[in-house]
Amino acid sequence: MDALIWAPVPKGGKDFGHPSMPELMRRVRDTLQTRLGGPNTSDIVGAPGSIQLRNVTAGYGGAPVLSAFDLHINPGEFVYVVGPSGAGKTTLLKVLFGVVRPETGWVLVDGIAVHRLQRWQTDTIRRRVGCVFQAYELLPHLTSLENVLLPLQLAHARMRHARAYAVEALELVGLKDKLHEFPGTLSGGQQQRVAIARAVAHQPRVLLADEPTGNIDSQSSSEIMELFGQLNEMGSTVVMATHDEFVLASYSAREVRLQPPTLMAVAS
Ligand SMILES: Nc1ncnc2c1ncn2[C@@H]1O[C@H](COP(=O)(O)OP(=O)(O)OP(=O)(O)O)[C@@H](O)[C@H]1O
Ligand SMILES: [Mg+2]
Repeated sequence: MDALIWAPVPKGGKDFGHPSMPELMRRVRDTLQTRLGGPNTSDIVGAPGSIQLRNVTAGYGGAPVLSAFDLHINPGEFVYVVGPSGAGKTTLLKVLFGVVRPETGWVLVDGIAVHRLQRWQTDTIRRRVGCVFQAYELLPHLTSLENVLLPLQLAHARMRHARAYAVEALELVGLKDKLHEFPGTLSGGQQQRVAIARAVAHQPRVLLADEPTGNIDSQSSSEIMELFGQLNEMGSTVVMATHDEFVLASYSAREVRLQPPTLMAVAS
């Protein structure tokens, strides 16, 4: 886990009688932990790469899809979100990405209080988190390269070498020879891989992926899982929604299981 390092107080600096920074930090952390209730008291709430949801209720205006939902994911963890169709897997990822705003509760992703972001502030989360959507959402009039490059340039206006990063990401997913093709001329699996390249081009600390192996064969699924595994080994936290039994059986990781709201109502 990343350590917090504080600059030493310069010699001769004034002592205002405040607690030292580490002490202050410890108190803030303890207070937040009491409020948010992380399951492991050694985990730093809001640490880089971590995810915390506390008492989250979210949906689309009708009956909530997630109710009083709690989740804690450590930095660098790989977690599957599983459950039947309609259980709320996509909704959970949208909450993490700031697309669906919770009605109640806290959502901290990579240190960002996502539940507090206004619509015009969602760039903050896009800069730090990569997301592979269930429907790839590629722009049809842009080539593979442009689909990866454009969001990179929008989110990181001052990024140097953005084009090189975009090309590298497409090479990583095996599409070096499809840089200038339009989505309409690519197979479903290739479009999926462009969407993955777009999500990882800025080397995010948190990667969210919604059924990234849906619609592709087991060979391509394995390649995608190897890629996610590498990103995870390099330190990215990965949260992946899936029903893919092949993936779940071949690459084991913690599973967070969601139930459709109606079943939850029956169970409670
Ligand atoms: N934009 C929306 N407006 C209103 N209701 C929605 C919207 N998106 C999803 N829902 C509803 O929210 C519930 C959860 O949907 P969600 O897409 O999160 O499920 P899921 O677990 O991802 O399902 P799947 O496995 O089919 O992708 C469903 O009942 C769905 O009908
Ligand atoms: Mg879904």
